[in-house]
Amino acid sequence: MTQPSEMRIFLETFGCQMNILDSELVAGQLKDAGHTFVDSAEEANVVLLNTCSVRDVSEHKVLSRLGKIKERKARGEKVVVGVLGCMAERAHDELLKSKPFIDVMVGPSKIHETKDLLEQAFSAKESATQKSLSYFVARKGKTAAEPTALDDLELLDQSRHLENRDTPWQAYIRITRGCNKFCSFCVVPRTRGPESHRSPSAIIDEAKRLVDSGALEITLLGQTINHYFYEENGKTWSFADLLFGLHEQVKDVKRLRFLTSYPRDFTDDALDVMKSCDRICKYLHIPAQSGSDRILKSMNRGYDLETYLSLIERAKSRMPKISLIGDMIVGFPGETDEDFEKSLELLRHVRYKNVFVFKYSPRPNTVAQKILVDDVSMDVKKLRNNRMLEAQRAISFELHQEMVGQTVSVLCESQAKLDRKVESGNLISLRDKNKTMVLMGRTGGDHIVHFDGSSSLIGQLCDVKITDARPLSLSGLLV
Ligand code: SAH
Ligand code: F3S
Repeated sequence: MTQPSEMRIFLETFGCQMNILDSELVAGQLKDAGHTFVDSAEEANVVLLNTCSVRDVSEHKVLSRLGKIKERKARGEKVVVGVLGCMAERAHDELLKSKPFIDVMVGPSKIHETKDLLEQAFSAKESATQKSLSYFVARKGKTAAEPTALDDLELLDQSRHLENRDTPWQAYIRITRGCNKFCSFCVVPRTRGPESHRSPSAIIDEAKRLVDSGALEITLLGQTINHYFYEENGKTWSFADLLFGLHEQVKDVKRLRFLTSYPRDFTDDALDVMKSCDRICKYLHIPAQSGSDRILKSMNRGYDLETYLSLIERAKSRMPKISLIGDMIVGFPGETDEDFEKSLELLRHVRYKNVFVFKYSPRPNTVAQKILVDDVSMDVKKLRNNRMLEAQRAISFELHQEMVGQTVSVLCESQAKLDRKVESGNLISLRDKNKTMVLMGRTGGDHIVHFDGSSSLIGQLCDVKITDARPLSLSGLLV
């Protein structure tokens, strides 16, 4: 029987890898303080939503969750609800007005305060929103992050809870916070604040501790990760230096990857390190957003198509089999059929492994929302979105077919979802008498591979010979 005074926390995460990492850190902090986590919102008396504001649809999901909690509160249940992350930062005034039942609001730069704020809200007799936010209004004109907030945040990263991680074999490490780019459509610089970098010694130390606790694959995170730069003990560290330093000093890490790269200022040095270090994945998430110079300019992306293509060339000439991942926005204000065709052309030219396609969504207070007219209709956005996904599907299929016959190293993540039929319409195989099951894992280039094996392989690297290709995944046999 749980005591009425005991917190039973349910934490749901929306959005990007940064949010996944933030949630892991917050959960670790709460677990260290002795609080209990439960598997569903219904069982919980503390519901935390770590939110994303990048597109309108991301925020809608959160609003619908909040609607459910409001009903519970209206029935007289004691539920503490916390909105964490980008939406708390971007929309705090709106939320306070329209959802006054929210108990805690914490922006991404203040997540280290979540535990204290929650405990206060949970023990308070009267409900009053506890909040800790910092950037949405304050960021204007600032290029450096607030030192105190950052120091506390840094402590949260450094004191991360290494035991009982959900996926001990895989870990994220933040190397850069925030973003200074101000692409005209994007809320991130306003929600995550100015760009700031973490010290290389803290990063390398964190990587070593994670590897000691079982991590085989480490993914470094930053919004414009190749801008990494740090001065420490009289030495300057570029992104290339950091990659090399990690590769050399953390010998037991089997795979190192990073995201997201910004298409300008990606040095040959960094590409050379990627090429020469065998444990660095030949993988680059490098969003183009558009293939039209006119649109790139209006997006304030700070590069043109030629610069983008030359980076792709420089990468492919060093690593012919590199996996390239893209982000594309369709239906940006003023995007004509001709502009859109240029984006499709870029897709075909680059031959991405996969592309995340987004329908432009005007975000409050961004330059695009303030000065451009959202003049591409939703029907046209949907059409372009579908055409782009179709074009990408054909490319992915071709790339996958080229892999048939190869033996690849796969990091096995889980049992494949057997209730979801794979694309061919048939299951590869069903659980058989010998207790083998269909497993799912990823190659260093992030290709999804299904294969039969025992559950003991989950969390391990296995060699798999590819026998079959589909547009979104591969299948093969353990060798
Ligand atoms: N550099 C960041 C980008 C964050 S936003 C990163 O780490 O991924 C992720 C992607 O969302 C962007 O690359 C862009 O393609 C898309 N996006 C951002 N704002 C958008 C908007 N207003 N409408 C549609 N898509 C958007
Ligand atoms: Fe957003 Fe552009 Fe930065 S997409 S995260 S403002 S690089």
